[in-house]
Amino acid sequence: MQLLLALTSIWTLLSSAGALQCLMCTDAADPTCASTASVPCDSSQCLTATVPGPLVYKACGQPVLCPSAGNQTFSLSSTALNISFNSQCCNTDNCNGATLSLPTFQSVNSLQCYSCDNYNRNCSIRIQCKGGEDRCFKTNVTNGGITLPFLGCASSNLLQIAASNLGSIVPFPGLSTFSYCQGSLCNSAPAAATTAHLLLVLLLFSLYH
Ligand SMILES: *[C@@H]1O[C@H](CO)[C@@H](O)[C@H](O)[C@H]1NC(C)=O
Ligand SMILES: *[C@@H]1O[C@H](CO)[C@@H](O)[C@H](O)[C@H]1NC(C)=O
Ligand SMILES: *[C@@H]1O[C@H](CO)[C@@H](O)[C@H](O)[C@H]1NC(C)=O
Ligand SMILES: *[C@@H]1O[C@H](CO)[C@@H](O)[C@H](O)[C@H]1NC(C)=O
Repeated sequence: MQLLLALTSIWTLLSSAGALQCLMCTDAADPTCASTASVPCDSSQCLTATVPGPLVYKACGQPVLCPSAGNQTFSLSSTALNISFNSQCCNTDNCNGATLSLPTFQSVNSLQCYSCDNYNRNCSIRIQCKGGEDRCFKTNVTNGGITLPFLGCASSNLLQIAASNLGSIVPFPGLSTFSYCQGSLCNSAPAAATTAHLLLVLLLFSLYH
Protein backbone atom coordinates (compact mmCIF):
# COMPACT_ATOMS: atom_id res chain seq x y z
CA MET A 1 0.00 0.00 0.00
CA GLN A 2 2.77 2.36 0.96
CA LEU A 3 4.60 1.44 -2.21
CA LEU A 4 1.50 2.13 -4.23
CA LEU A 5 1.08 5.52 -2.58
CA ALA A 6 4.70 6.34 -3.18
CA LEU A 7 4.46 5.30 -6.83
CA THR A 8 1.28 7.31 -7.24
CA SER A 9 2.83 10.45 -5.86
CA ILE A 10 5.96 10.01 -7.96
CA TRP A 11 3.74 9.57 -11.00
CA THR A 12 1.78 12.68 -10.09
CA LEU A 13 4.99 14.62 -9.70
CA LEU A 14 6.42 13.37 -12.96
CA SER A 15 3.32 13.87 -15.04
CA SER A 16 2.81 17.42 -13.83
CA ALA A 17 6.50 18.30 -13.99
CA GLY A 18 7.00 20.80 -16.76
CA ALA A 19 3.32 21.59 -17.09
CA LEU A 20 2.75 25.27 -16.58
CA GLN A 21 -0.06 26.10 -14.17
CA CYS A 22 -2.35 28.95 -15.20
CA LEU A 23 -5.34 30.59 -13.61
CA MET A 24 -8.60 29.96 -15.42
CA CYS A 25 -12.02 31.56 -14.89
CA THR A 26 -14.27 28.97 -13.29
CA ASP A 27 -17.63 30.61 -14.03
CA ALA A 28 -18.13 31.28 -17.74
CA ALA A 29 -21.24 33.30 -16.94
CA ASP A 30 -19.33 35.77 -14.78
CA PRO A 31 -17.82 38.53 -16.98
CA THR A 32 -15.60 39.74 -14.15
CA CYS A 33 -13.90 36.35 -13.71
CA ALA A 34 -14.12 36.78 -9.95
CA SER A 35 -13.26 33.16 -9.24
CA THR A 36 -10.35 31.31 -10.79
CA ALA A 37 -8.74 27.89 -10.43
CA SER A 38 -5.17 26.86 -11.16
CA VAL A 39 -5.02 24.36 -14.02
CA PRO A 40 -2.14 22.60 -15.81
CA CYS A 41 -1.63 23.86 -19.37
CA ASP A 42 0.04 22.36 -22.40
CA SER A 43 0.92 25.83 -23.61
CA SER A 44 4.07 27.65 -22.51
CA GLN A 45 2.21 30.84 -21.59
CA CYS A 46 -0.67 32.00 -19.41
CA LEU A 47 -3.03 34.69 -20.66
CA THR A 48 -5.10 37.45 -19.11
CA ALA A 49 -7.14 39.80 -21.30
CA THR A 50 -10.05 42.17 -20.97
CA VAL A 51 -12.23 42.64 -24.04
CA PRO A 52 -14.99 45.23 -24.52
CA GLY A 53 -18.07 44.39 -22.53
CA PRO A 54 -16.02 44.40 -20.43
CA LEU A 55 -15.31 40.71 -20.23
CA VAL A 56 -12.30 39.41 -18.30
CA TYR A 57 -10.63 36.33 -19.72
CA LYS A 58 -7.95 34.25 -17.95
CA ALA A 59 -6.73 30.95 -19.35
CA CYS A 60 -3.88 28.97 -20.84
CA GLY A 61 -2.30 31.07 -23.59
CA GLN A 62 -2.49 29.27 -26.92
CA PRO A 63 0.47 30.19 -29.16
CA VAL A 64 -1.62 32.31 -31.52
CA LEU A 65 -2.79 34.44 -28.60
CA CYS A 66 0.57 34.36 -26.86
CA PRO A 67 3.44 34.11 -29.34
CA SER A 68 5.73 35.32 -26.55
CA ALA A 69 5.56 36.78 -23.05
CA GLY A 70 4.51 40.40 -22.83
CA ASN A 71 1.67 42.83 -23.42
CA GLN A 72 -0.26 43.26 -26.62
CA THR A 73 -2.96 45.64 -27.76
CA PHE A 74 -5.55 44.51 -30.31
CA SER A 75 -7.48 47.12 -32.20
CA LEU A 76 -10.09 47.67 -34.92
CA SER A 77 -11.56 50.91 -36.27
CA SER A 78 -14.47 51.60 -38.57
CA THR A 79 -17.11 54.29 -38.94
CA ALA A 80 -19.60 52.10 -37.07
CA LEU A 81 -17.42 50.57 -34.40
CA ASN A 82 -14.11 51.14 -32.65
CA ILE A 83 -12.73 48.48 -30.35
CA SER A 84 -9.43 47.88 -28.64
CA PHE A 85 -8.29 45.65 -25.83
CA ASN A 86 -5.17 44.56 -24.00
CA SER A 87 -3.72 41.16 -23.26
CA GLN A 88 -0.83 40.03 -21.14
CA CYS A 89 1.05 36.74 -21.61
CA CYS A 90 3.47 35.36 -19.05
CA ASN A 91 5.26 32.10 -18.44
CA THR A 92 5.46 31.39 -14.72
CA ASP A 93 2.92 29.41 -12.68
CA ASN A 94 -0.33 31.32 -12.10
CA CYS A 95 1.18 34.55 -13.38
CA ASN A 96 -2.04 35.64 -15.11
CA GLY A 97 -3.81 36.96 -12.03
CA ALA A 98 -3.83 40.62 -13.12
CA THR A 99 -7.11 42.06 -14.35
CA LEU A 100 -6.31 44.43 -17.19
CA SER A 101 -8.24 47.58 -18.01
CA LEU A 102 -9.41 48.51 -21.48
CA PRO A 103 -7.14 50.88 -23.42
CA THR A 104 -8.21 54.46 -22.81
CA PHE A 105 -6.99 56.41 -25.79
CA GLN A 106 -5.11 55.50 -28.94
CA SER A 107 -3.64 58.21 -31.12
CA VAL A 108 -4.10 58.09 -34.88
CA ASN A 109 -1.31 56.71 -37.06
CA SER A 110 -0.48 57.39 -40.71
CA LEU A 111 -2.55 54.56 -42.23
CA GLN A 112 -5.89 55.31 -43.89
CA CYS A 113 -8.51 52.71 -44.79
CA TYR A 114 -11.91 52.74 -46.42
CA SER A 115 -14.97 52.26 -44.28
CA CYS A 116 -18.72 52.51 -44.98
CA ASP A 117 -21.26 55.20 -44.16
CA ASN A 118 -24.02 54.63 -41.63
CA TYR A 119 -26.35 53.26 -44.29
CA ASN A 120 -23.63 50.93 -45.62
CA ARG A 121 -24.18 52.25 -49.10
CA ASN A 122 -21.02 54.24 -49.58
CA CYS A 123 -17.87 52.36 -48.65
CA SER A 124 -15.52 55.09 -49.83
CA ILE A 125 -15.35 56.89 -46.51
CA ARG A 126 -11.72 57.36 -45.51
CA ILE A 127 -10.85 56.83 -41.87
CA GLN A 128 -7.60 57.35 -40.04
CA CYS A 129 -6.28 54.23 -38.32
CA LYS A 130 -5.16 54.28 -34.71
CA GLY A 131 -2.50 52.82 -32.44
CA GLY A 132 -1.13 49.53 -33.78
CA GLU A 133 -3.65 49.19 -36.60
CA ASP A 134 -1.46 48.29 -39.56
CA ARG A 135 -3.91 46.62 -41.98
CA CYS A 136 -7.06 47.52 -43.87
CA PHE A 137 -9.77 44.87 -43.93
CA LYS A 138 -12.96 44.14 -45.81
CA THR A 139 -15.71 41.70 -44.97
CA ASN A 140 -19.47 41.20 -45.00
CA VAL A 141 -21.64 41.06 -41.90
CA THR A 142 -24.91 39.16 -42.05
CA ASN A 143 -27.52 39.96 -39.47
CA GLY A 144 -31.19 39.05 -39.68
CA GLY A 145 -30.80 37.85 -43.25
CA ILE A 146 -29.28 41.12 -44.43
CA THR A 147 -25.68 41.18 -45.64
CA LEU A 148 -23.77 44.42 -45.32
CA PRO A 149 -20.19 45.30 -46.17
CA PHE A 150 -17.89 46.02 -43.25
CA LEU A 151 -14.59 47.78 -43.89
CA GLY A 152 -11.96 49.43 -41.72
CA CYS A 153 -8.57 49.29 -40.00
CA ALA A 154 -7.29 46.48 -37.76
CA SER A 155 -4.08 45.42 -36.05
CA SER A 156 -2.43 42.39 -37.63
CA ASN A 157 -2.34 40.52 -34.30
CA LEU A 158 -6.15 40.65 -34.28
CA LEU A 159 -6.24 39.42 -37.87
CA GLN A 160 -3.83 36.60 -37.04
CA ILE A 161 -6.16 35.35 -34.33
CA ALA A 162 -9.01 35.62 -36.76
CA ALA A 163 -7.07 33.59 -39.33
CA SER A 164 -6.19 30.83 -36.90
CA ASN A 165 -8.26 27.75 -36.18
CA LEU A 166 -9.19 29.47 -32.95
CA GLY A 167 -11.83 30.94 -35.23
CA SER A 168 -13.86 27.79 -34.96
CA ILE A 169 -14.02 28.01 -31.17
CA VAL A 170 -16.33 30.98 -31.31
CA PRO A 171 -18.90 30.30 -33.98
CA PHE A 172 -19.85 33.59 -35.52
CA PRO A 173 -22.42 33.14 -38.23
CA GLY A 174 -22.71 36.81 -39.12
CA LEU A 175 -19.19 37.49 -40.31
CA SER A 176 -18.16 36.04 -43.61
CA THR A 177 -14.65 35.31 -44.72
CA PHE A 178 -12.87 38.58 -44.89
CA SER A 179 -9.81 39.89 -46.63
CA TYR A 180 -7.12 42.23 -45.48
CA CYS A 181 -4.20 44.06 -47.01
CA GLN A 182 -1.35 46.38 -46.19
CA GLY A 183 -1.11 49.99 -47.38
CA SER A 184 -3.38 52.99 -47.21
CA LEU A 185 -6.78 52.61 -48.91
CA CYS A 186 -5.92 49.11 -50.15
CA ASN A 187 -9.31 47.71 -49.07
CA SER A 188 -11.45 49.09 -51.85
CA ALA A 189 -11.35 46.38 -54.51
CA PRO A 190 -12.89 43.00 -53.66
CA ALA A 191 -10.78 40.35 -51.98
CA ALA A 192 -7.16 40.47 -52.97
CA ALA A 193 -5.07 39.52 -49.99
CA THR A 194 -5.27 36.80 -47.37
CA THR A 195 -8.62 35.57 -46.20
CA ALA A 196 -9.58 34.47 -42.72
CA HIS A 197 -12.51 33.93 -40.46
CA LEU A 198 -13.15 36.72 -38.07
CA LEU A 199 -14.02 35.02 -34.89
CA LEU A 200 -12.51 36.38 -31.85
CA VAL A 201 -14.88 39.15 -32.07
CA LEU A 202 -17.69 38.06 -29.93
CA LEU A 203 -17.36 41.69 -29.05
CA LEU A 204 -18.37 42.65 -32.55
CA PHE A 205 -21.20 40.25 -32.20
CA SER A 206 -22.44 41.86 -29.03
CA LEU A 207 -22.13 45.30 -30.54
CA TYR A 208 -24.07 44.39 -33.65
CA HIS A 209 -26.99 43.12 -31.59
C1 LIG B 1 2.07 44.98 -19.03
O1 LIG B 1 0.84 45.46 -18.57
C2 LIG B 1 0.72 45.45 -17.16
C3 LIG B 1 -0.71 45.81 -16.80
O2 LIG B 1 -1.16 46.89 -17.54
C4 LIG B 1 1.76 46.40 -16.56
O3 LIG B 1 1.67 46.39 -15.14
C5 LIG B 1 3.15 45.94 -16.99
O4 LIG B 1 4.11 46.87 -16.54
C6 LIG B 1 3.24 45.80 -18.49
N1 LIG B 1 4.48 45.16 -18.82
C7 LIG B 1 5.28 45.61 -19.80
C8 LIG B 1 6.51 44.84 -20.06
O5 LIG B 1 4.98 46.59 -20.47
C1 LIG C 1 -13.96 55.28 -35.02
O1 LIG C 1 -12.71 55.90 -35.25
C2 LIG C 1 -12.61 56.55 -36.53
C3 LIG C 1 -11.22 57.12 -36.68
O2 LIG C 1 -10.25 56.15 -36.51
C4 LIG C 1 -13.65 57.63 -36.66
O3 LIG C 1 -13.60 58.18 -37.95
C5 LIG C 1 -15.04 57.03 -36.41
O4 LIG C 1 -16.00 58.06 -36.38
C6 LIG C 1 -15.09 56.29 -35.09
N1 LIG C 1 -16.37 55.59 -35.00
C7 LIG C 1 -17.09 55.58 -33.88
C8 LIG C 1 -18.35 54.80 -33.95
O5 LIG C 1 -16.75 56.16 -32.87
C1 LIG D 1 -19.00 58.46 -50.88
O1 LIG D 1 -18.29 59.22 -49.88
C2 LIG D 1 -17.16 59.89 -50.38
C3 LIG D 1 -16.41 60.48 -49.18
O2 LIG D 1 -17.29 61.19 -48.35
C4 LIG D 1 -17.59 60.93 -51.39
O3 LIG D 1 -16.46 61.62 -51.91
C5 LIG D 1 -18.33 60.24 -52.53
O4 LIG D 1 -18.84 61.19 -53.42
C6 LIG D 1 -19.48 59.38 -51.98
N1 LIG D 1 -20.02 58.58 -53.07
C7 LIG D 1 -21.33 58.47 -53.27
C8 LIG D 1 -21.73 57.60 -54.40
O5 LIG D 1 -22.16 59.04 -52.58
C1 LIG E 1 -19.32 40.55 -49.83
O1 LIG E 1 -20.55 40.37 -50.52
C2 LIG E 1 -20.48 40.85 -51.85
C3 LIG E 1 -21.88 40.81 -52.44
O2 LIG E 1 -22.53 39.60 -52.12
C4 LIG E 1 -19.50 39.99 -52.63
O3 LIG E 1 -19.40 40.42 -53.99
C5 LIG E 1 -18.13 40.14 -51.98
O4 LIG E 1 -17.19 39.28 -52.61
C6 LIG E 1 -18.19 39.79 -50.52
N1 LIG E 1 -16.92 40.15 -49.93
C7 LIG E 1 -16.24 39.37 -49.10
C8 LIG E 1 -14.94 39.89 -48.61
O5 LIG E 1 -16.67 38.28 -48.74
